[in-house]
Amino acid sequence: MSEPLVLGIETSCDETSVGIVKGRKLLANIISSSVEEHARFGGVVPEVASRAHLEAIQPVIKRALSESKVSLKDIDAVAVTAGPGLIGALLVGVSAASALSLALDKPIYGVNHLAAHIAVDNLNNNQAIKPTIALLVSGGHSSILQVNDLTGDISILGATIDDAAGEAFDKVARLLGFGFPGGPLIDREAKSGNREAITFPRGLSQASDMLERPFDLSFSGLKTAVSRYLVANPNSNRSDIAASFQEAVVDVLLNKAIKATIDSGIETLLIAGGVAANSRLREVAQERCEKAKIELRVPPAGLCTDNGAMVAALGSLAISSGKPPSNLGLSASSSTSATQILF
Ligand code: KG4
Ligand code: ZN
Repeated sequence: MSEPLVLGIETSCDETSVGIVKGRKLLANIISSSVEEHARFGGVVPEVASRAHLEAIQPVIKRALSESKVSLKDIDAVAVTAGPGLIGALLVGVSAASALSLALDKPIYGVNHLAAHIAVDNLNNNQAIKPTIALLVSGGHSSILQVNDLTGDISILGATIDDAAGEAFDKVARLLGFGFPGGPLIDREAKSGNREAITFPRGLSQASDMLERPFDLSFSGLKTAVSRYLVANPNSNRSDIAASFQEAVVDVLLNKAIKATIDSGIETLLIAGGVAANSRLREVAQERCEKAKIELRVPPAGLCTDNGAMVAALGSLAISSGKPPSNLGLSASSSTSATQILF
């Protein structure tokens, strides 16, 4: 099938989202977030997220259908995030997708959330995703991947050994008293700060690290450095700290991702996941990739954080590359590796 009409369901964390795509064209992407219910806890509470998904899933499916002017009987397949993510949250999406698949007698594709973050860049353009290095930076995961074939062959070149990049943004935002989720707040605050005010450490970037584990990442030392700086300088300018912290994260991520791209001989770097929405990461990536003559691909900021369109995009790719659907007994798995693309 060349241009399948796919409905994609995402419920791995705190966004209940349904996207509808036809081939590579995005028709609708509806997101209902429970983030405000978690804010006072400073992080996502799994039980609260599951309950919110249960309440939101049906209205979100209905809105996506009405926005795209698609009727359920026209859907060719249902795609759903089956992992990784919060197990109770994932199960709501997988159950809804299984029910739709059964009722409509249409195939179901369980897809990997991490690969779906990359697949979203296949929408609304005429440049299909080629073999690429992917810098995947979200709230739960951070890794550098070699993507030879997005529906069949992904290998992990390196990953974080402690916090994910988004997690580091969220924890440092909490230290700075900015609220949750911290990434967008630090991004905004950093615009009025001096990014050279403080030189924070760049994790796993010493010469020996770059030889032994060049593509692994670490952010917990950076978080501790910010915390110590705040204790030693309680009246320091919060915007300067935000800008200097963000600069350290961006610097490390791009140093490593660009080295991976050059070393692998692949011409493209794709940046995906929630942290790919960061304005400074996008700006510096543009500059450095131009200099290194690397083709840079970054999805529109609004499609970097969790959404259903990315799930539908990967489902659509799976169908057009002839991959078999999942069994109806499809379950969810909380700790799926990026290498397991389809379920
Ligand atoms: O991909 P995502 O929506 O969820 C996961 O799969 O984890 O990523 C969420 C993460 C959060 O940690 C959030 O703070 C971060 O992405 N994030 C950002 C920005 N927007 C979202 N981090 C830095 N700058 C941003 N503009
Ligand atoms: Zn995500």
